[in-house]
Amino acid sequence: MNNEENKDIAHRQHVKYFMRFLNILPPSLSSHDTTRVTIAYFSVAGLDVLGSISSMSLELRSRIIDWLYRLQVHPYKETGNMSICGFQGSSTINMDLEVTDSMCHYRCGHLAMTYTGLCILLALGDDLSRLNRKAIVEGVKALQTVEGNFAATLSGCESDMRFVYCAACISYILNDWSGFDIEKATDYILRSINYDYGIAQCPELESHGGTTFCALATLALTDQMHRLSEQQVEGLKRWLLFRQIDGFQGRPNKPVDTCYSFWVGASLKILDALQYSNYGSNRRYVYETQDSVVGGFSKWPDTCTDPMHTYLGLAGLSLIGENGLLEIEPTLNITKRAHTHLKSLHQQWAES
Ligand code: FPP
Ligand code: ZN
Repeated sequence: MNNEENKDIAHRQHVKYFMRFLNILPPSLSSHDTTRVTIAYFSVAGLDVLGSISSMSLELRSRIIDWLYRLQVHPYKETGNMSICGFQGSSTINMDLEVTDSMCHYRCGHLAMTYTGLCILLALGDDLSRLNRKAIVEGVKALQTVEGNFAATLSGCESDMRFVYCAACISYILNDWSGFDIEKATDYILRSINYDYGIAQCPELESHGGTTFCALATLALTDQMHRLSEQQVEGLKRWLLFRQIDGFQGRPNKPVDTCYSFWVGASLKILDALQYSNYGSNRRYVYETQDSVVGGFSKWPDTCTDPMHTYLGLAGLSLIGENGLLEIEPTLNITKRAHTHLKSLHQQWAES
């Protein structure tokens, strides 16, 4: 796409912005310390979509990779039980103690941390050789509920469409679906489609752009898109396209927000319908939320920037072909470059 307006990506500033989050977490984000892996994901994925992974020194890249492997939770020593396996979100409560049943609240994987941790490893070109792949798959399996959705952790928490998506991404990346009952998850997704054709966190809740993305990306990753009827596909396209005001909103009568240029944009891309949206007004809105002096994007104009909206703003712009950005693989929310690396690992695993 040609940049028809005189706005451009403040490339250098965004690189500096992401690099800061990789070095030190600002006090304003200290409450997010336990989910630090997600902040690292938005920063590394952001550098990747900017084509700037090489701005990170090899030493920094290897420190991040080592840090992630230290966050990998291994099976119980005594019993070999793998249900706790996956990645933790930070080392805040990462005690180097022998894991026993009673400690699983402190030492267990979390699906969003495992998914985003794997994405970072892929973006940094790691070969995933230090993963206990079998154990992570068993950890995923332990989290699927009878309803077909997934809980985030073993330690008792909500279960909904977000974690169905994370579990699907992990299974896809590890190329092992033995921990993910596709039939049950598909049934859960189909039951969460609403009268308005949008998709909710759970059956009978309100349709939302974020959860519609999670559901559609899961159907695509599990090769189940054909389970949607023609009427559902057309209804979904319509519901998603009607989320565009100038940028996109997440649900009717709510304000637009930069992140939905990705969540709704990627959903439309999966349905091969993004081209029916208005790229110019989407682009203009996202640029209104750019801080071109310090770097970063916010959800609304003239509000605080954060790494999530910065990455998702860039990813949303990439989906509409913005100059100077790498292409995104919409289902996994990583660059096509990182996805190609993953495909080469799958090939190696198949040959070994
Ligand atoms: C805000 O709800 C929620 C979001 C902006 C996130 C939506 C995205 C998802 C559910 C996908 C998450 C994916 C993963 C992998 C965890 P709100 O009620 O504050 O915002 P609204 O007013 O825009 O609806
Ligand atoms: Zn948002």
